Amino acid sequence: MTRKHVSVLLVLALAAAFVVPLAAQTTYDRAVVVQVMRDNASTLGQVRTALNKGDFFAAASGFWKFAEGMNRIMQFTPPKGSKTEWDRILGEFVSTALRGVGTAGEKDAAKGLAILAELQRLNQAGHAMFR
Ligand code: HEM
Repeated sequence: MTRKHVSVLLVLALAAAFVVPLAAQTTYDRAVVVQVMRDNASTLGQVRTALNKGDFFAAASGFWKFAEGMNRIMQFTPPKGSKTEWDRILGEFVSTALRGVGTAGEKDAAKGLAILAELQRLNQAGHAMFR
């Protein structure tokens, strides 16, 4: 093996070292997505109950949990549907959930319930495209 071959191999190895982790980061992890979705389903009920009885701390925790979970799965490339739409819908979901935390801070149950309705609209859009 010549010196030139060795340098070519080194460059390739270095390139692979950078590219492989980037690709691995976006691989769809079904177990994680399913877990986040099941959490979403129980969080939905918890937030609604919390808002209806004026427990704004619990409502804020739930809205935050929505944002955290969906922000986590945004890194993935969906197995069906477009990555651009995935990023757009999840991005909108996360910012809507964060606005929900704000409504809990204002102790405004009606606004909080309107945010829940928006999250359910995004749920339907997301499932139509990706599920
Ligand atoms: C309030 C919002 C949402 C709730 C309550 C919810 C709930 C669920 C539930 C219960 C499942 C079935 C999980 C299982 O197999 O046990 C599911 C699956 C799924 N949801 Fe959602 N979802 C929500 C929003 C979204 C959004 C916004 C997207 C996409 C942008 C999305 C994408 C998916 C996908 C891709 C699956 C299939 C996962 C797989 O099997 O690979 N969901 N969701």
